Amino acid sequence: MAKSGHTVQTPKAVPMYLQIYEKIRTDIETGAVSVGDSLPSERQLQKLYRVSRTTVQNAYDQLEAMGYVTRHAARGTFVATPPQWPSAVKREASFRCARPWQWMHNTFLEDLMESASRDYTFDFEAGRPDIELFPLTDMQLALEHLFSKKSRDVLLYSPTMGLPVLRQAISEILMPQRGIHDMPAENILITSGAMQAIDLIAKLFIEPNDMVVVAKPTFPGALQRFATQGARIVGIPVDSEGIDVDQLASVVRQRRPSLIYTQPTCQNPTGVTLSPARRERLLRIARDYNIPVVEDDACGFLSSSNTQALRAQDDDVLYVGTFSKLVAPGFRVGYVTAPANIARRLAGVKQVTDLHTGSIGQLLLESWLTMGGLEEHLQRSRDVYRERLRTAVATLRCSHVVPVYPAEDGFYLFCSLPDGFAARALQQRGAERGVIFASGDAFSSDGDLQGHLRLCVSALPPASIRVGLRRLTQIVEEQRAPVTP
Ligand SMILES: Cc1ncc(COP(=O)(O)O)c(C=O)c1O
Repeated sequence: MAKSGHTVQTPKAVPMYLQIYEKIRTDIETGAVSVGDSLPSERQLQKLYRVSRTTVQNAYDQLEAMGYVTRHAARGTFVATPPQWPSAVKREASFRCARPWQWMHNTFLEDLMESASRDYTFDFEAGRPDIELFPLTDMQLALEHLFSKKSRDVLLYSPTMGLPVLRQAISEILMPQRGIHDMPAENILITSGAMQAIDLIAKLFIEPNDMVVVAKPTFPGALQRFATQGARIVGIPVDSEGIDVDQLASVVRQRRPSLIYTQPTCQNPTGVTLSPARRERLLRIARDYNIPVVEDDACGFLSSSNTQALRAQDDDVLYVGTFSKLVAPGFRVGYVTAPANIARRLAGVKQVTDLHTGSIGQLLLESWLTMGGLEEHLQRSRDVYRERLRTAVATLRCSHVVPVYPAEDGFYLFCSLPDGFAARALQQRGAERGVIFASGDAFSSDGDLQGHLRLCVSALPPASIRVGLRRLTQIVEEQRAPVTP
């Protein structure tokens, strides 16, 4: 293996096993080690990086899963032959990339996006709506209508803030569904998905070394974006009522974070909804210390208990929404609402990022919202996903894959595995049998939670959920040699 430094310069949020994975992967792809070369033993790597055996095993599991190495119980680990590598490009350019992005090769999100666009029989990984619920007929009508007007406006640039008609429809039709009745359209910035809203917020509020408070576990896209902004991330544990606000108060008091990122309703990955008392407390803490609160409400519409958004209680909350879970992710349309001066600044940041979000998607979504089918669509979606969650919970009953939180709405179940098991070590076996899921460590900035996994049940009908989850629990049962630290 190349000797060129084994301290890897990465943001702290990148788990150690991924750092080791990236180092070895780069050595392989750049030819620093050759096909058939023997790689260091687990014990040697343990000593080299001063990490646990599990960490090294996870790095090698990942390399094996990606086809970079082959492992033989007696002989050791070897660089696999090139045709098995995922990348068609064997040699990489050696240009220096800016520091925050140097480690960004094959990230969790990249894997997730790859699986979201492929067809696994039992896909419990990608967090997307069921394609059967995409309003295809409505969209077809809206598209025909748009182009039949032969108006060239459809293909023009949009203002950076977004098309006024869509912002108006969000203000009048969507926001009231979340208990927000007074959102001026001027305060709504249309973004390219909720992910871009998080990106813009990170750029506007976070300086390198600033502290950002998140839930643990939380959405990996936010973790990665905050990490690449140079943030130090503190994860506050979540229980069945949501984020632990006592711990939040003490972290805020002692470390004065620049941002609190939260998903109060149907949180990804736990499905938990923050209790009313904790909502009050969280807002009070943020107000007392004048810290911006970001409410990521990606799955909030799926709550059947009519839990209002946090933004309904406090005008200063930066509210992030998206059409990805509500309608379809391919539109890449989301939005962020903020007090007018902050919304304008966010628009300034967006302007130097991508000028504006695509006009056609904005117009289609505006047509869809004004057609009047939103409530029915919401009701149907909630019913469908609730039934799927119940099916999943019932199927997992008495198995070794145990839901940690009582999720009733939304897409997700966050589960624990038996002691000593690492979800990543099960992923390849799962994929071979058509079952894919997300490993828990991706949802924590510390890279722990390796003994957990996130199941997204939204994309599969109940019968497939039953078969897929039985297959998963079988794989866990068959795992004769659990990974022990
Ligand atoms: C909590 C959360 N926020 C944001 C996003 C990103 O959504 P979008 O597709 O709108 O960028 C996701 C997607 O999975 C999510 O789960």
